[in-house]
Amino acid sequence: MGGSAAEAAGQTGRAAAAKPFGVAVVGCGNISKQYLKNLVTFPDVQVLFCADIDAGRAKAQAAAYGVPASGSPEQALDHPDVRLVVNLTIPAAHAEVASAAIAAGKHVWNEKPLAPDVASGRALLDQAAHAGVRVGCAPDTVLGAGIQSARRLIAAGAIGTPISALTLLQGPGPESWHPDPEFLFAKGAGPLFDLGPYYLSVLATLFGPATRVAAVGRRESDTRVIGSGPRAGTEFAVEVPTYMSALAQYAGGQAASLLFSWDSPLTRSGFVEITGTEATLAVPDPNQFDGDLRVRRAGDQEWTVIAAHGAAAGRGSGVVDMVRAIRRGQPHRASGEMAQHVLELMTAIERSAASSSFEPLESVFDLPEMLAEDWDPHVAAA
Ligand SMILES: NC(=O)c1ccc[n+]([C@@H]2O[C@H](COP(=O)([O-])OP(=O)(O)OC[C@H]3O[C@@H](n4cnc5c(N)ncnc54)[C@H](O)[C@@H]3O)[C@@H](O)[C@H]2O)c1
Repeated sequence: MGGSAAEAAGQTGRAAAAKPFGVAVVGCGNISKQYLKNLVTFPDVQVLFCADIDAGRAKAQAAAYGVPASGSPEQALDHPDVRLVVNLTIPAAHAEVASAAIAAGKHVWNEKPLAPDVASGRALLDQAAHAGVRVGCAPDTVLGAGIQSARRLIAAGAIGTPISALTLLQGPGPESWHPDPEFLFAKGAGPLFDLGPYYLSVLATLFGPATRVAAVGRRESDTRVIGSGPRAGTEFAVEVPTYMSALAQYAGGQAASLLFSWDSPLTRSGFVEITGTEATLAVPDPNQFDGDLRVRRAGDQEWTVIAAHGAAAGRGSGVVDMVRAIRRGQPHRASGEMAQHVLELMTAIERSAASSSFEPLESVFDLPEMLAEDWDPHVAAA
């Protein structure tokens, strides 16, 4: 069966460590390709089941990636050797699917955002704590070589004391390439909730928890048109702001200026700069696992390029870190608590755009330990 309080405390020990951790992927849409491609190559996990409310999709993904069984989400939860559910459903289904998995005694890795609202995110974490199982959450890009190298550089004093951040994401929006983009413009999505988790999780990893935010939001159009796939030409409703500009203040005293926009013909993304008392650090794209870093000190005419060091194994890396942490009784890094804080932060940004006032934040989380440079999900843990 799935996790127990003893397992969460790491008491199952070595016997369990010998066998790959049984995993089910629930939600076999667009992003499941990246997860399955990676998860089947990670020796610490074994994908035993692919599930979807669309049985055909589950069957096709199982066949494509050599997964032995497929079927409904309920069948995945009934599988006796599945101990962790990788929940890749649409955001509106994240909490419901995760909650059912926890009720069946399984650990859960959720795609982002953790839940559609703060209350259901909190309820999920409480349910998991009570059941003695873990919740982890995307993005695990923060475990990639790029962001981990940024953390190491800052810890080594490369920019002095970090004092501020500037992030930028702008473009025309994903309806041009996603064949089923409606969910990305529905409540709980938009550029803030869809891509904000990458940028805000980097800042959470580098600065810790935020304490208050203010924001301005707008929406250029009430409808958009699907640009690719079998439903190209279909018009659909836009329910959320498609432009959000925010200011955030962090408990450590740092400030951040943030832009998330799908109302721009010009595409610019992956821009994250951390300014310290002595230098500015340009961090690689938070939606990638790798990429060079650049540092510019006071008086420099050029950036100094610094190569990232560490694993860049892609989506699913956080699942491996979680499985290893469960076995060792240690905290996992891409934690539900950090994701809950990011969810509260995004919700507060949305609320501030509506209220025109600063919105406070309450949740906190423990900063995860940095990953070692030689951490590698492709090599079985000792
Ligand atoms: N597409 C991307 O590039 C991308 C990148 C990173 C993260 N994500 C995240 O991954 C998640 C899924 O995105 P996607 O693009 O793969 O969406 P998608 O619509 O392509 O796939 C979602 C799948 O979940 C299934 N599903 C919906 N409700 C379900 C339920 N209750 N039980 C079981 N299956 C259910 C759908 O049938 C569909 O196959 C979202 O949270 C998204 O934010 C997507």
